[in-house]
Amino acid sequence: MGNKECYILGIESSCDDTSAAVLRNDSVLSNVIANQDVHKAYGGVVPELASRAHEQNIIPVVDAAIRQAGITADQVSAVAFTQGPGLLGSLLVGAGFAKSFALAKDIPLIGVNHLHGHIFAHFLKPKGKENSPPPDFPFLCLLISGGHTQIVRVNGFMNFEILGQTIDDAAGEAFDKAAKIMGLPYPGGPVIDKLAHSGNPDKFALNKPRIPGLDFSFSGLKTSFLYMLRDALKKDRAFIEKNKCDLAASLQHTIIDILSAKLIEASRLTGIHNIAVSGGVSANSGLRTHLTDIAKPHNWDLYLPEKSYTTDNAAMIALIAYYKFLNKAFANQETTPTARLAFGNGL
Ligand code: KG4
Ligand code: ZN
Repeated sequence: MGNKECYILGIESSCDDTSAAVLRNDSVLSNVIANQDVHKAYGGVVPELASRAHEQNIIPVVDAAIRQAGITADQVSAVAFTQGPGLLGSLLVGAGFAKSFALAKDIPLIGVNHLHGHIFAHFLKPKGKENSPPPDFPFLCLLISGGHTQIVRVNGFMNFEILGQTIDDAAGEAFDKAAKIMGLPYPGGPVIDKLAHSGNPDKFALNKPRIPGLDFSFSGLKTSFLYMLRDALKKDRAFIEKNKCDLAASLQHTIIDILSAKLIEASRLTGIHNIAVSGGVSANSGLRTHLTDIAKPHNWDLYLPEKSYTTDNAAMIALIAYYKFLNKAFANQETTPTARLAFGNGL
C-alpha cells in the first residue's frame, strides 16, 4: 500500500474521550486519550459537559500526541477527524480543531466514520506488534460499542455490508444501563466485567430476546433485569449489595450468549471463518475468553484487538485516514460532522 512515508494526525472526539494519535503510515507512534471523569456523577454522558471537556482537552492532547510521536507539527502530512456518528457538540470540537490545523499547515483534511475506525482497529500496527497479521478479507466483524451493535461483512478497506444490527439498545448500553440500575458508576461495562470475575453466571436466569435473522435486541434484557431487582428489593433491601457479583456475572453471561449465538449464525450463513471483534465491549474479559474457547470448535480464526484499541481512540481514526490519504479521499473546509452519519462504502 504505497511506500512513501507519511505522518497522519488523527483526532477522535465523538463521545466522552478526547483522543489524538500520530501514525507513520499504519504504525502507531502515539495514541493519547483523555477520559472525561465529569460524567461519572451523572450515570451517563452529559453531551454539553462532554463538548466543554473536549474544548479544554483538545490542545494538550494533540500536543502530547505530537511530542510522544517524536515529530513536530510541521511534519504532519494530513489531519483527520471523526465525522460521525456521535454527539454533535463533541464532533464539532474535533472537526473545528482539525480544520484550523489543516488550514494553518496547508495540509489535507480527512473525515472518518467512527465505525469504520473501530472495524479496522485490527489493522493498526502498535510498537512491538508490527508483524502480527490482520484478518484476511472477507471477514466478519462483530462491532460492539456503547452506541452500536452490528455484524459487518468486510470485503475490503472500503467495501463492507451490515448483515445485522441492534433494533434498540447497543450491547454497551445494556452493560451501562444495568450497571446504573445496580447503582454502579458509569461506564458500567468495565465495572460489571470486574465484579463478574467473582460471581456465579448461572445464579440468575435473565430474558434472552427472540429476534429473527442476525439482528439483536437488548432492551428486553434491561427491563427484565430492572423488574427482577425491583421485586427482590421489596423483600430484601440489601439484595443488590449481597448479590452484586452474581448479578454482574449473570448479566454478562446473558449478553455474551446473545452476542455469540448471532456471531455463530452469521459465520454459518456466510461460510466465513475469519472473525474479528471490535468496539468498547470487545474489551470484556468474559467475552474474550468465551470467544477464544469457541473459536476452535467452530474453526474460526479469531481476531481480538489489543485492549487499548477496543474503546474509543484516535489511532483507529488515523488508520482509516491513512488509507484515504493514499486514495486522495479528502474532506474540505465545508465538510460538516453529522451525529447520525450513515455507515457505508467510502465513509
Ligand atoms: O467503543 P466505545 O469506547 O464507545 C462507543 O463508540 O460507544 O464503547 C464504550 C462502551 C461502553 O458502553 C462501555 O461500558 C463498554 O464499551 N465497555 C465495556 C468494557 N469496557 C468498555 N463493556 C463490557 N466490558 C468491558 N470491559
Ligand atoms: Zn466507539
